[in-house]
Amino acid sequence: MKIVNFGSCNIDYVYSLDHIVGRGETEESAHRDVFAGGKGLNQSIAAARAGAPVWHAGCVGKDGEFLLDTLKSSGVDTRFVRTVDGPSGHAVIQVSAKGENAIFILAGANGMFDCAYVDSVLSHFGAGDLVILQNEINNNKYIISRAKEKGMLTLLNPSPVNAAIGELDLSSIDYLILNEIEGEHLTGEREPEKIVTALRARYKGLTVILTLGEKGSVFVSSRGTCRQAAFEVDAVDTTAAGDTFTGYFVSSLYRGMPPKEGLRLASAASALAVGKKGAAPSIPLYGEVTEALPSMREKEEKSDRAKEFIDTVNAFLLEDLAGASLGTLSARLGYSPSHTGQLIVRYTGKTFSEYLLRLRLTAAADLLRSSSLPIAEIIRATGYSNESFFRNKFKEIYGVTPLRYRNGVE
Ligand code: RIB
Repeated sequence: MKIVNFGSCNIDYVYSLDHIVGRGETEESAHRDVFAGGKGLNQSIAAARAGAPVWHAGCVGKDGEFLLDTLKSSGVDTRFVRTVDGPSGHAVIQVSAKGENAIFILAGANGMFDCAYVDSVLSHFGAGDLVILQNEINNNKYIISRAKEKGMLTLLNPSPVNAAIGELDLSSIDYLILNEIEGEHLTGEREPEKIVTALRARYKGLTVILTLGEKGSVFVSSRGTCRQAAFEVDAVDTTAAGDTFTGYFVSSLYRGMPPKEGLRLASAASALAVGKKGAAPSIPLYGEVTEALPSMREKEEKSDRAKEFIDTVNAFLLEDLAGASLGTLSARLGYSPSHTGQLIVRYTGKTFSEYLLRLRLTAAADLLRSSSLPIAEIIRATGYSNESFFRNKFKEIYGVTPLRYRNGVE
């Protein structure tokens, strides 16, 4: 099975912010990165890094040379990518200190897929090959109808969801990978089960892969249903998590993996992507995923008891971060240190020291942005006696030095 992805390529301008800017608000960004991105490019890269043979069909402007280089160096075949007049597509992305994002895009070259180009690319593919599509390029309707005429399989990720999706003939789609928001847009339903039932009732034979964020993902086809829990991850940047999932799931189709294994692989890859900054740069290699998988922990739905316990622990620890220890915490909670340690592992997936380290780094990051205290003082206030240990850990988690995190200049 050959895989061709008619997909967007974007230059991503990524602004690191304390929080996503609200209506009427202005916030100064500490730092801007420029990354290769676009849902199409990200998905091609994910599938290729997962070991599948992928041809990317896309349009870039003359400013998009590095997008092509990123595709090529990830193992994607770019012979069909066209360089057109005008600028490449781009995205403006806000990333908050919690790793959440907000994105807007300008299509640029992504709006230049004409029918002749589509036909010339598709002439290299045939029955049984797979076409991947998202919703950041023009002419998807034509691509779907021509692919079906050729007996190809079609996989659509209707993202970002908008009115253009309503014009597509979803009865010509074999695999639909979507999240709950997209599911609600397509069906009017909010509950995962109802979304899947509505889609499968409307489009016979459709395989639905619904991603549910913290709650994992579900695969439903005429062959049956399977589920996968999400994996624990310390979120740094969620950009391209969905694209990584899609690309890795595509690779599982190529490998002929059972759906349950495909979901597991895709979920793990997507969790690893969330732990790193950027779109394309955050997508892991197949070997990285398979190496990490055995030690990755699946998320359990947190019970009210767990939430209450974590809130209490946080409140006690934050009262005196510098002096916090398992001994003082267990005394406050009224449990033995070993029982407290076990509860922390059960409810957070981390040992006490790992948990405290993460809390201290988060507090330090908050202070860096919200105060003008000297960095050495912040380091002391959050409980680090070894300054270089703090600086190394900070860089490991946030990808930049504390100073750069504070003001974007080193
Ligand atoms: O899904 C993430 C992508 O969405 C980013 O890379 C950005 O380009 C937007 O298209």
